[in-house]
Amino acid sequence: MPRTASEQALIERFSRTYRHLTQSETMLGIERAVCGCDYGCTSWTTREEADDIGNILGLGPATRYLEIGAGSGWPGLYLAKRTGCEAALIDLPLEGLQAARERAAKDGLADRCRIVQADGAALPFAGGGPGGPGGSGGFDAIYHSDVLCCLIEKQAVLEECRRIAGDEAKMVFSVISIAPGLSDADYETAAAGGPTFIESPMDYAEMLARTGWTVTARGDVTAEYSETFGNMFGFEKTNIDEFERVHGAEGAAELMGRRERTLEALERDLLRREIFAAVPAGVRMARDFQP
Ligand SMILES: C[S@@+](CC[C@H](N)C(=O)[O-])C[C@H]1O[C@@H](n2cnc3c(N)ncnc32)[C@H](O)[C@@H]1O
Repeated sequence: MPRTASEQALIERFSRTYRHLTQSETMLGIERAVCGCDYGCTSWTTREEADDIGNILGLGPATRYLEIGAGSGWPGLYLAKRTGCEAALIDLPLEGLQAARERAAKDGLADRCRIVQADGAALPFAGGGPGGPGGSGGFDAIYHSDVLCCLIEKQAVLEECRRIAGDEAKMVFSVISIAPGLSDADYETAAAGGPTFIESPMDYAEMLARTGWTVTARGDVTAEYSETFGNMFGFEKTNIDEFERVHGAEGAAELMGRRERTLEALERDLLRREIFAAVPAGVRMARDFQP
């Protein structure tokens, strides 16, 4: 699937970010203090949230876990280490994937963690549903953290997740969106303060229904996001010298400008971060009605 210039620019920015974050002890220290991890994370998923997600997904040694947009390994490698699951991590920026491979080797996870460069909208895995080439052998657990707001082809990603999901699969994801019911001016402020591709053609519950998923839970974690964001921004400002060393003066100024716009949008309740849990639609019902 061809990528637009703005998508390609975002992938390149993520690639530089993963290199910078994973090579700065100060930035990793900030991540430890704010999110409880040190993988070079770029989502707002804290360790506490990752633990909850591992529990919701029922991860354990027999689980086949797939993470879309896994960056430099957070939280997929952490969850693999904690739960013993088999993991496949996919993303596009090579520098993130390289950092994830190094971390997997260091943590003794290389044997059960596949780290692959792939587009979430065109997954390189066999289908998992009853009609698919993989039979019921697809993935058991699928996760993505703040990824749909970082790409245009949101629906295609959810369709691909559905295609490779096994009959008993569970999918969980977090996503940042524009709060509903805003004036045009507030909508613009929210769009400018959120992730690059925050705008969505429809509510995610509707998108899930259209792509073959049944929503089993939906939770608002905007307050947690706002707190994590505030802590991160505070540490970044007090470590501005390291921030500039790591990102360069121009890159740091650009990032700080974005942080200010996010802060304004959050303070005015214009952004929303949610977590969705879903299962393949129809499969369980069809099986339950078998004579
Ligand atoms: C907010 S980051 C989350 C990264 C990581 N999971 C974390 O929590 O730190 C979103 C990720 O989505 C990835 N992404 C964007 N477009 C993608 C696509 N089409 N296919 C797969 N991943 C994509 C980006 O490269 C980025 O690493």
